[in-house]
Amino acid sequence: MKRALLVSLSLGLMSAAVAQKVEAPITIGVAVAQTSNVALLGQEQVIGARLAEKFFNATGGINGTPFKLVFQDTGGDEAGTINAFQNLINKDRVVGIVGPTLSQQAFSADPIADRAKVPVLGPSNTAKGIPQIGDFIARVSAPVAVVAPNAVKQALKLDPKIKKVAVLYAQNDAFSVSETGTFQETAKAQGLSVSTVQKFQTTDTDFTTQVTAVLGADVDLVIISGLAADGGNLVKQLRQLGYKGLIIGGNGLNTSNLFPVCGRDCDGILIAQAYSPALAGSVNQLFVKEYRNQYKKDPPQFAAQAYTGVQVMVEALRKIDKKKKLDTWNLADLRVELNKQILAGKYKTPLGDVSFDREGEVNQKDFYVAQIKMKDAKNGTFVFLK
Ligand code: ALA
Repeated sequence: MKRALLVSLSLGLMSAAVAQKVEAPITIGVAVAQTSNVALLGQEQVIGARLAEKFFNATGGINGTPFKLVFQDTGGDEAGTINAFQNLINKDRVVGIVGPTLSQQAFSADPIADRAKVPVLGPSNTAKGIPQIGDFIARVSAPVAVVAPNAVKQALKLDPKIKKVAVLYAQNDAFSVSETGTFQETAKAQGLSVSTVQKFQTTDTDFTTQVTAVLGADVDLVIISGLAADGGNLVKQLRQLGYKGLIIGGNGLNTSNLFPVCGRDCDGILIAQAYSPALAGSVNQLFVKEYRNQYKKDPPQFAAQAYTGVQVMVEALRKIDKKKKLDTWNLADLRVELNKQILAGKYKTPLGDVSFDREGEVNQKDFYVAQIKMKDAKNGTFVFLK
């Protein structure tokens, strides 16, 4: 009797240990800018990632096992991003990382994850060359070459008489440098003349020199590649000093957090979009509903892309787990397997059908252009154009 009890007790302890091992939470890292000016974009990514965590855990997690997101704030620079990545890789021991916010940060931190063989999904890095950083680096954010030209074409649709363009870009930001290249090529390909090219820094607040040059060039379109804080101030100063023509903002200005920066002067800015809340299909419409419930407005592109990044990781983990129960104790192998599965999979996401090429570049079909419509000095909306 005693022996039987002992046996069943130790069996019980063993199965508890096994259960504990199986139920150890699977953690996915999220490294985006939660502080600094870059948080104007990063805040939306945190929201998107959290909504994905909630939704995909509510729909079974990894085939019955919940997963957890671990956030590490990158701040706005490279050093903070490297630190966040190292913490996620070595301390939090995540299976993969969704992040960072900026391409500028990705070029510094992604090589660290790549060397450690930890899969990274860029949620918003759109500069040329991101997936080519390494075998473990992919992105769900379509590159400038496929997104940015849409805005120029839309500007010409709104005003076919446009002839002369001023192009401005943040020279200390890798994405802005990449995007302005695409904008300038597109403008020329569309038969426009690039009358002036002006540089600034993402830390600048006074744009008098650049605005004076733009006004002197007498252009009818201004195209800005920068981030939300600098870009917003530049738009404001262009309008205050008398520029009346159309303005295109690049991907770094694609947030309603721009509204308090340029206020009423944000009105009319054209921005190309890699996401539309109107995209049909239950995956996007469920996401839109959930976002609207919580935030009383439509989800923005940065939130949709971060949601997609988490979704891709989760669905890849589900696939691996179906073949063979996930072994989080053998993390090195799992990370390698996850990377393979991410690249092999096809995903139905809020961005539409998404897959990857061999290098980790996203395949995505639909792109859009929206125009900012301000209601007052702080509130506005993105109106999607046909
Ligand atoms: N799309 C911007 C970048 O790549 C945010 O840095």
